[in-house]
Amino acid sequence: SNYQEPHRPQYHFSPKANWMNDPNGMVYFDGEYHLFYQYYPDSTVWGPMHWGHAISTDLVHWEQLPVALEPDELGWIFSGSAVLDAENTSGLGTKDNPPLVAIYTYHDPVGADAGRDDFQTQGIAFSLDKGRTWEKYKGNPVLDNPGIQDFRDPKVSKMQVSGQDKWIMSLAVKDKISFYSSDDLLQWEYESDFNPPWAAYGGVWECPDLFPLTTPDGQEKWVLLVSINPGGPNGGSATQYVIGDFDGQTFSTDQNEIQWLDYGADNYAGVTWSNIPTSDGRKLFIGWMSNWLYANVVPTDVWRSATTLPRELSLWGKSPEWHLASRPVKELQKLRKSSHDISGDTISLEEELVELELSPVEEDFRLVFHNSEGEQVILAKEDDTLLLDRTQSGLVDFNERFPARHQAPLGELTVQNLRIYLDRSSIEVFINDGELVMTDLLFPEHRYTQVELKGFADENRLHYLQSIW
Ligand code: FRU
Repeated sequence: SNYQEPHRPQYHFSPKANWMNDPNGMVYFDGEYHLFYQYYPDSTVWGPMHWGHAISTDLVHWEQLPVALEPDELGWIFSGSAVLDAENTSGLGTKDNPPLVAIYTYHDPVGADAGRDDFQTQGIAFSLDKGRTWEKYKGNPVLDNPGIQDFRDPKVSKMQVSGQDKWIMSLAVKDKISFYSSDDLLQWEYESDFNPPWAAYGGVWECPDLFPLTTPDGQEKWVLLVSINPGGPNGGSATQYVIGDFDGQTFSTDQNEIQWLDYGADNYAGVTWSNIPTSDGRKLFIGWMSNWLYANVVPTDVWRSATTLPRELSLWGKSPEWHLASRPVKELQKLRKSSHDISGDTISLEEELVELELSPVEEDFRLVFHNSEGEQVILAKEDDTLLLDRTQSGLVDFNERFPARHQAPLGELTVQNLRIYLDRSSIEVFINDGELVMTDLLFPEHRYTQVELKGFADENRLHYLQSIW
């Protein structure tokens, strides 16, 4: 692939060919950000899952490497995580050459077809050569299935909590998150469940992630991400989160409500990188930029799906009401090829790849990207709702749920600034440095050549971006 096909994202990762879904096993090691992903190398629709692999030294430019994990006699390779086992607790490497360890779900298609309940188990694999080749652990599975149909997506982190230093696994188990602990990544002990009555239960829970962040006033709080499909605020797949405390065994909350990570329709199954150096200290996130409502039928051939832009997660708000912000990573600034001050109501776009920085001055505002073929996407604030309308954005009728108006409640939030990234087949809107986010796919047949602005300041900023390919 030369990455020039119609709709091919120009600054988001997508595989050269064939199907991808969830990002998996993100780990930083020795100058490289690893991105594995649910991959079916034989087709552009979902099927027997492998782990595809890409690496980056800057989170922006990606190099696709050979498939890292293939199905074996225990099953297909579903989602999971990867860690650096720095102290070689697993014994799978040495102290001098510690292993990268991937922890993933085995999905046994034979057991599933036979109507059994125990067809998902957890397995591990390790690499001693910077993730280039992987060996499956001989003692797999490391976590057997207790007879529950949905038992998957292990996210493992080393946690120093309550005087303990343990590996903690968050696992999606039907409609709850179960926590397990281990000293060596090989033997796992059940700790507790999280499934409060006030969470969102419109679908099955998937792809959890648990990590601490520091609040603006200096407290440590724990964030639990839980993807859910269906049941998202704008239909289909979405990611809810809760903020609370984790004592090494149990996750507890004082804020008894879920919140949504992204109010667009196309940010799912996202989790964070492990092993980011403490000198960096960021919590880095990436999601799958699609939705199970229509992921298999979006109008691309050659490949299907891409990741979202990488985002830095942080907490904002006031005690005890904390919220998660996701802002595009600063490395993305190097995509800027030229930058322009813009003013007036109608701005013509000379190029396709655009980043816009805007400040509203009126209570309500409206922005429309469009072209002379009548394709348009509308972003508007109307009272206390942010609206993203892709009903006429281009190709929309490949699935009846695609042409939609997505809404986000603004609540108490005052919109101070917007940052918008437009790629060839997506739009990502970040309000107030990520306090509210909307990510949507778009499939215009022709590029948008103009943007209409209403309700914004006289001075705004437009950047044309370069392709990463
Ligand atoms: C989420 C998910 C995971 C599963 C994987 C299978 O999108 O359904 O729960 O591990 O995709 O590809």
